[in-house]
Amino acid sequence: MGEKRREEQPEIEQEIMLEELVRKTSKVVLHAAEKGRTRLFDVLTYKNIEKINRILDKKPIFYENEQHAKTEILLSPELGETMPAEFFENPTQWIESQNNIERHYGDKSLPTGKNIKEMRYQSYDISKVKEFSVTDEHGKYIKIVSKRIKPEETSEIALAVKAFAAGIPTPKVLGEIYDKGNTYAFFEKIDGIDLKAALKKKKLDHYSLAFGVTDMDEEWFWKDFTNLPFKNFISDVCRQEIFNNWKKAKKDFILEREISIPLKDLFRDVSERYFDQVEDKMESLRWKNTLNKEAIDKILKKYGFKNLDDLENQKLEGADLEKYKKLLKIINRRAEILSKKSTIFKDNLSAAILKDILGVDVNVEKEKLEKMCKEKGIEHKDFADRNILVGWDFEKDEPKGKDSGDVKLYVIDWEKKSKSNKK
Ligand SMILES: Nc1ncnc2c1ncn2[C@@H]1O[C@H](COP(=O)(O)OP(=O)(O)OP(=O)(O)O)[C@@H](O)[C@H]1O
Ligand SMILES: [Mg+2]
Repeated sequence: MGEKRREEQPEIEQEIMLEELVRKTSKVVLHAAEKGRTRLFDVLTYKNIEKINRILDKKPIFYENEQHAKTEILLSPELGETMPAEFFENPTQWIESQNNIERHYGDKSLPTGKNIKEMRYQSYDISKVKEFSVTDEHGKYIKIVSKRIKPEETSEIALAVKAFAAGIPTPKVLGEIYDKGNTYAFFEKIDGIDLKAALKKKKLDHYSLAFGVTDMDEEWFWKDFTNLPFKNFISDVCRQEIFNNWKKAKKDFILEREISIPLKDLFRDVSERYFDQVEDKMESLRWKNTLNKEAIDKILKKYGFKNLDDLENQKLEGADLEKYKKLLKIINRRAEILSKKSTIFKDNLSAAILKDILGVDVNVEKEKLEKMCKEKGIEHKDFADRNILVGWDFEKDEPKGKDSGDVKLYVIDWEKKSKSNKK
């Protein structure tokens, strides 16, 4: 027995050394990638390339394994007797062997967690947040999220407790675990996904509404509309409503806004005596005039011209600088109003689209949450979409309570520092 022990010793020591090497490499690679210094890492390690490559293929390790560090397990009463014996025997090992939380992004923006190598381009520790479930003595299923917290970030737990107690919609803290030099916080798992994932799922994360600013005919409107990434998620009612609003806006200000742009350039050019581009501007107005003379005449009358010919004649006079300067002032003021109108129109459209697809204008709801935190004196440092959860109906793949207008949002991640440059 004694003999065997002595033989095993070097093997265990080697294992520990390897673990330590993997841990160090994981941290260095992540850090280098975060700082955009992956190339520097390559240069510094090229002599040991083969050995390094073998390590880079290993699963990253970010948790500590300090054998003599204190162990302290604080669990809330609801967790009572539910945690399995293996958890108490080796909390770190047990937590770290649970599944990484599902992010629902449906793309490759986050690493898989399988090897260190991939973190060179996806600088993120995906093993930090885990999920698991336990059953209490009444048979109630409790879903838990565990988050490994950096030593300098432990105030996150106290802030999360405070926010929950203050009535801010945020997951309840269910435990605080200190083991082998690691700190973990247990949170109630919200049956939901983060807002970044929700917007991605419904293809609402990148789009632009060209028809909000450009004058176009109905055929082009529909062409433009059917190119929108979220077209398959929008209801017929909302589609029609957008069309009606666009038609109204077109009459109201879209055409005028488009005309005001060349008009501005035209008179700026004259007043500054730059004539070279003027003909181009006139050309575009003339072309528009052939399509929509009546509407353009009406707009030009507002600026004191009878029609396009009148405008052209005045321009040709070209001498009365004071008069043009005055006119330019009016045009500029009007252009500002029109641009504001167009922004409001587009914002309203976006709000209607969000409401239709997600059941709620999530931007407004986010603002409400932020205001609530401020009012309660609990500051959240990073109101990014990935730090807001939305209750989700996974069967229907849409927000829970969408049809009843009862969609719930929660704030998570009470870290001290903002990381918002990272999505
Ligand atoms: N209580 C919870 N219920 C459900 N999902 C959660 C919960 N806590 C976290 N998540 C999910 O895990 C993700 C990461 O959690 P969290 O933001 O707390 O970690 P993080 O390390 O700060 O991540 P990041 O740097 O991306 O913000 C969240 O974006 C969310 O998708
Ligand atoms: Mg976060």
